[in-house]
Amino acid sequence: MKIFLTGGTGFVGAHTARSLLDAGHELRLLVRNPDAARTYFSRHGHEVSDFVVADMCDENAIRQGMVGCDAVLHAAAAVSLDPRKAQQTYENNVGGMKAVIGSACDLGIRNIVYVSSLSVLMQTGFDEINETTPLANTREAYSRSKRDSDEYVRGLQARGCPVQVTYPSAIVGPDDPKLSEANHAFAQFISQMIPNTTTGFQCVDVRDLAEAHRYLLEHPATGDFEDARYIIGGHYYPWPELRQKLEAVTGRRLFSLPIPGPVFRAMGQVMDLLKKIVPFETPISVEAMGYVTQWTPASSEKYLRHSRLHFREPADTLTDTVRWLAASGHLKTKFAPRVAVHP
Ligand SMILES: NC(=O)c1ccc[n+]([C@@H]2O[C@H](COP(=O)([O-])OP(=O)(O)OC[C@H]3O[C@@H](n4cnc5c(N)ncnc54)[C@H](OP(=O)(O)O)[C@@H]3O)[C@@H](O)[C@H]2O)c1
Repeated sequence: MKIFLTGGTGFVGAHTARSLLDAGHELRLLVRNPDAARTYFSRHGHEVSDFVVADMCDENAIRQGMVGCDAVLHAAAAVSLDPRKAQQTYENNVGGMKAVIGSACDLGIRNIVYVSSLSVLMQTGFDEINETTPLANTREAYSRSKRDSDEYVRGLQARGCPVQVTYPSAIVGPDDPKLSEANHAFAQFISQMIPNTTTGFQCVDVRDLAEAHRYLLEHPATGDFEDARYIIGGHYYPWPELRQKLEAVTGRRLFSLPIPGPVFRAMGQVMDLLKKIVPFETPISVEAMGYVTQWTPASSEKYLRHSRLHFREPADTLTDTVRWLAASGHLKTKFAPRVAVHP
């Protein structure tokens, strides 16, 4: 099968592309930087040369690029929390999604996968998040862009477009081309402080997510497209459990202070106010602190039953992630003496 794939120079797109290439599929990659893609894939044993070099909002280039493709996977997005880039982030993500998914539907491609985010479903007042949970009200440009994109894709599904949607939790794992948010957070948990507060952290291994995308592309939706939504949530860890597991992997005690949820959320409010006066990028916001302190575990039951696949063991994910963070210089080796490979 020939797949038109976006986001191949990013974490999810790169791993999904590798999984598809390993399974013998052909790819056409929409990228802005083909050299970065060539370098990454050749380092991982694949030569890629079929590129559409364009922005994901360039509908003409996308339509031409999709000719001859059997399937589409859209993983590209601007993942930025910088309030100075809010409008750009929003327009980029919603515009890119409309150009890619909208064009694929218009061209009659019958096998389409869109990568959404669990953040669009995450809200308080539920015992568990699943695919029937309504879309949440989100505030920040990035999460609003994902939420509004999801609403648009749901409209396409309702009109009979064969789009399958995945909802990943925080994504961690090795071989991350740009150090995405959750891997960065892991490095900070280990080198600075790991939260010790209410609820916990849910994350999925990027390689399991890539497998999920490969599986869904190999098993396109055939009917009831509005049901083709899958949470790919991986494992949920209450904060003390994540701390314990990371201590076992790193071989070090991690710094942690018990901080009540309301204090974290008040910090988020202060940061949101400060950002209005002096815009700067920080992971601390009311919304982010809500995720840290009020995360409702999300169930991947539907996907696991459908695919009969499984998520790898937490120890494998955590060990490989920490080892890679250290080997790639994102985490000083002194913070992970047990797994770091010393030069
Ligand atoms: N990482 C997570 O924890 C997480 C969690 C839930 C959902 N997701 C979703 O998963 C998807 C992939 O995220 P990721 O973690 O792989 O992000 P990433 O590592 O930052 O990669 C983003 C990719 O999107 C591409 N891109 C961004 N804007 C583009 C544009 N205007 N035109 C063409 N390409 C563009 C980037 O290309 P360049 O290399 O040219 O910049 C890069 O390939 C996103 O939809 C994200 O919302 C991520």
